[in-house]
Amino acid sequence: MKPIIFITRKLDNRVVAPLQEKFNVRMWESESESVPRAVLLKEVAEVDALWTVVSDSVDRELLETGKKLKIVANMAVGYNNVDLDAAREHGVFVTNTPGVLTETTADLAFALLLATARKLIFAESEVRKGNWNSWSPMQYTGMDVSGATIGIIGMGRIGEAVARRAKGFDMRVLYNNRNRKREAEAEHGFEFMELDRLLAEADFVVTLAPHTPETVGLISARELGLMKSTAVLINVSRGGIVDETDLYEALKDGTIWAAGLDVFETEPVPLDNPLLTLPNVTVLPHIGSASIKTRLAMMNLNAQAITAVLEGREPENRIV
Ligand code: DGY
Repeated sequence: MKPIIFITRKLDNRVVAPLQEKFNVRMWESESESVPRAVLLKEVAEVDALWTVVSDSVDRELLETGKKLKIVANMAVGYNNVDLDAAREHGVFVTNTPGVLTETTADLAFALLLATARKLIFAESEVRKGNWNSWSPMQYTGMDVSGATIGIIGMGRIGEAVARRAKGFDMRVLYNNRNRKREAEAEHGFEFMELDRLLAEADFVVTLAPHTPETVGLISARELGLMKSTAVLINVSRGGIVDETDLYEALKDGTIWAAGLDVFETEPVPLDNPLLTLPNVTVLPHIGSASIKTRLAMMNLNAQAITAVLEGREPENRIV
């Protein structure tokens, strides 16, 4: 009997075919709809390995149901969707896909920053709607990025990659992180700063901290109140780090100027989320790592981790 893998999203055949040679692969075939919880619970009861994505909740109930489960391979660098304590208790490996998405996610963060600062999405929609009737000096004007100050919260691999891009735009780079990055400070002139001061000095605040109990609500009303009224907030890490209710108020009353969001507390974002009603918010559907090359690299890492465990080896990129 071949070990069984359940994959919660439709995958590229280049990744699935090699797995099928060795294992019994079951896959949720839809790209547009998440696997229903009932289906996931039924599958996990029978499988040896589970391939998940960020929006799958791998909670205690799921891990308890997986009596034969040996590994959860989470196709993301973040793993806040997985109950690590429950995995540990049940002796289930948990792996993630770091490294391969760093530059791609930094590209997206910067693209979102530029798009929000210069109102690109709004301006583009004006052209398509036929609303561009004249050229007028202050029409569609936004904020300068070149020469401005960026404050990066969470200076991991992606944070550093965003900071390097910012240097190319002659920006002053401030950062806040659990650990000082002295080498990067010396090499690139990045400046470590306490969070409150960073918020007060930055023109662009980019949140890249991981989602942990300590970072939930890290940017709430008080922190938004410290920011400049001309400031732009960019969140490309996880919803929940920025309090959405407080952000809505801050954007509505002009406490800050604009926000660019690739992530939300609830994903896919419900259409009744009040943030979607604001003209000064740019929204994206969690596409930080969404380049073809990077998604294939993430899939390959996941496939390697599952193969290792099902062949009795220790997986790389092990969290638990
Ligand atoms: C990650 O890797 O954590 C991203 O958010 C999903 O692409």
